[in-house]
Amino acid sequence: MDIVRRARAMRDACSAARAAGKIVGFVPTMGALHEGHVALVRRVKAQADLTAVSIFVNPTQFNSNEDFTRYPRDLSSDADLLVREGVDLLFAPEPDEMYPPHAATFVEVAGLSDKLEGKSRPGHFRGVATVVTKLFEIVTPHVAAFGQKDAQQALIVKTLVRDLMLNVEVLVLPTKREADGVAMSSRNVLLGVEERRAARAIPRALEAAAAAAEAGERDAGGILGAARTVLGGERLLRLDYLELVDTERLDPVPKLQKETLLVVAVFAGTTRLIDNIVLRS
Ligand code: PAF
Repeated sequence: MDIVRRARAMRDACSAARAAGKIVGFVPTMGALHEGHVALVRRVKAQADLTAVSIFVNPTQFNSNEDFTRYPRDLSSDADLLVREGVDLLFAPEPDEMYPPHAATFVEVAGLSDKLEGKSRPGHFRGVATVVTKLFEIVTPHVAAFGQKDAQQALIVKTLVRDLMLNVEVLVLPTKREADGVAMSSRNVLLGVEERRAARAIPRALEAAAAAAEAGERDAGGILGAARTVLGGERLLRLDYLELVDTERLDPVPKLQKETLLVVAVFAGTTRLIDNIVLRS
């Protein structure tokens, strides 16, 4: 596996592969890789002749410098994992490679970016949309994969690909979970033992909501109430938001629809965790 630090070199390697008729598959990440990332890599690799992964802790998508500094980083063990997975190219640029001095151009997916995560983390999705657009421009993948855990991010990426007419197929893969149901996330390593234990209440809350829906509850109030009761029983978790929204605009819905997204964000100590489930009726 080649580790590429420069955008120009990455662009050259990827465009040479395309010119040779190869299908380029891409998984953008911020590193601290886990089984969720591995699933994305394997899925893309199944379809691609050349598999590229990026590891870039993108400063513009963090609201606080502290969160950015605290984000887990371990390039050498990530690289070892990607070698074992048969990845061809790892793009690992420094911030000033992705953001030249006085960079003044950003990508904003209006509307979708201001809700849920965007409301709690203003500017977050502008950073995500900008860096994903830049990465797509550098790697020019035929196919790229994202995780459903970041459901809003996946929708925003699909929307920017549609609106900017980018020629990339976006795959969204199911959330990978630990044995106790907690969604895999690079941030999980930041949790203390008790916080990690408390985090189990998140999938339990989603399951309680799903069980209420299965038992015939249709009203948002009843479904959210079932989840809130579970979360409320865990004193180490502080709820940021819990909402039942439609899957296209992410607007709150009063009743279950054919497909409805239940989204949750909590703080465990200073670590923010998100999760979601799609309820079908
Ligand atoms: O999901 C992530 O790891 C990041 O938001 C992404 C898509 C790599 C953009 O920095």
